[in-house]
Amino acid sequence: MDLKVEFETHFGIAHTRWATHGVPSAVNSHPQRSDKGNEFVVIHNGIITNYKDLRKFLESKGYEFESETDTETIAKLIKYVFDNRETEDITFSTLVERVIQQLEGAFALVFKSIHYPGEAVATRRGSPLLIGVRSKYKLSTEQIPILYRTCKFLNKDWNSANVKNICKTRMKRLDSSACLHAVGDKAVEFFFASDASAIIEHTNRVIFLEDDDIAAVADGKLSIHRVKRSASDDPSRAIQTLQMELQQIMKGNFSAFMQKEIFEQPESVFNTMRGRVNFETNTVLLGGLKDHLKEIRRCRRLIVIGCGTSYHAAVATRQVLEELTELPVMVELASDFLDRNTPVFRDDVCFFISQSGETADTLLALRYCKDRRALTVGVTNTVGSSISRETDCGVHINAGPEIGVASTKAYTSQFISLVMFGLMMSEDRISLQNRRREIIRGLRSLPVIFFSFFFLPVSTFLYTQRSLLVMGRGYNYATCLEGALKIKEITYMHSEGILAGELKHGPLALIDKQMPVIMVIMKDPCFAKCQNALQQVTARQGRPIILCSKDDTESSKFAYKTIELPHTVDCLQGILSVIPLQLLSFHLAVLRGYDVDFPRNLAKSVTVE
Ligand code: F6R
Repeated sequence: MDLKVEFETHFGIAHTRWATHGVPSAVNSHPQRSDKGNEFVVIHNGIITNYKDLRKFLESKGYEFESETDTETIAKLIKYVFDNRETEDITFSTLVERVIQQLEGAFALVFKSIHYPGEAVATRRGSPLLIGVRSKYKLSTEQIPILYRTCKFLNKDWNSANVKNICKTRMKRLDSSACLHAVGDKAVEFFFASDASAIIEHTNRVIFLEDDDIAAVADGKLSIHRVKRSASDDPSRAIQTLQMELQQIMKGNFSAFMQKEIFEQPESVFNTMRGRVNFETNTVLLGGLKDHLKEIRRCRRLIVIGCGTSYHAAVATRQVLEELTELPVMVELASDFLDRNTPVFRDDVCFFISQSGETADTLLALRYCKDRRALTVGVTNTVGSSISRETDCGVHINAGPEIGVASTKAYTSQFISLVMFGLMMSEDRISLQNRRREIIRGLRSLPVIFFSFFFLPVSTFLYTQRSLLVMGRGYNYATCLEGALKIKEITYMHSEGILAGELKHGPLALIDKQMPVIMVIMKDPCFAKCQNALQQVTARQGRPIILCSKDDTESSKFAYKTIELPHTVDCLQGILSVIPLQLLSFHLAVLRGYDVDFPRNLAKSVTVE
């Protein structure tokens, strides 16, 4: 007699939400529901831009809304489609397919329903969504020896086909599905998530869904189909194996991911350069760009686009990119670039800098540039992310997973990736050979220099202050912007990065004995001008904390406190000068008692505009 074994299927959905509509509260939390009987429930990452119209329509049909979220319209809409279905046997996937035809905006959704027990349906458009696949049922430590002893006793091979029947009848203490798996059948678990780091502890086998894919799990089986089918559409989705290790994303001995990530930088910058910079031949090869190099060299200009820290990496490298590529370089905040409907042409090359590869503004800017036929280049830290998939070519920065919301090691790796691009572009320029050699030597020594100054004293006496200005210019202006961003986002202090050249045009009015000021003054072509700014600050009784080169006796004479930095090539100095500011923000946040890794109101991946 053949034994029919049934799996029990469980499916749970939950979502840690970054509020876009409605304050964070129980009623605005996910899942959102269609009605008090929970006929349909849904979780949503993204933003529905036409939710007001949908809500109005549904309200006119008698649906009562409980929350202020855009997501609730989706839950109500699916119930509306279900209530008005033309046939009784409509599938869950078909319902979802109909619902998303009415939605505008960006979304990753997972639905459950009491009408479809044991089933779940997921779909995406514009927001990332992946499925982790684990085909292993774990036996408990108690179950394994029992099963093993039973097989031995029965003289049966662990995997033999009919062992499951015998085990099923004899091993009362063993749960049937565990027994079944152990003797050969596969129980598969599926995990739906926006980001691989959420599921990596369970599986490293993932399927990345594309826009408008509908993935359904029913009876423990996964099926994926597409809403729109065109001739060029490939509906097959391969399972990919991620190289991310669990210990890579754990905190180790550090108190916070951010702290761990700051201290990982000697390694992460090395990994960014690994196999790309040849220190013997003074050459750089970025595999993802080599086939497009000719086209890039012929372009009219480079446009480097990003948000937040990624934008700062573009600001930090603009000057060296202009020098090495001899092309005009525009740096753009993605949101502003879109707001301005910036003219973009087919002979432009547009770079998209993004740690996550999922930032909505940067992704929209990418699509905008693609529509205008510019060559698009991704610089991301996330393999398989939307930006890395949708760009024509790109560089993976190889910094390793970054978990802390405040970006640290991604910044230095983005910085180095852009410098490497400049070096690759300038390989044939005779006039630039000495400069190239100098920069490549600087890159070589970076990881070692990093180790030498992690133990610098950091001025934590600032933690009771309300405001903190960070001032500098030239290669270190980006350091000021980035340092101020780190301080404001995790310490909640007001902090502003100021271009020292602008001091006389307004910010000088802020300076007095009380106002805490950090000045970044390095031995580079702007040194004399920075000295000028320093005089202006001290003349107004300002008491600057100065970040300066070790051998700079001049600046330190005027400093309230000095933080000395090792010296490197001018265009790479920003990689080192940002570290004390990363550490300072971390220490200030700890002293102020805040959660360093999860600052209020912020998310790691900003997948909404
Ligand atoms: C700041 C920070 C943000 C991100 C920005 C862009 O510490 O992390 O400013 O840099 O949201 O994110 P990505 O680089 O993922 O596009």
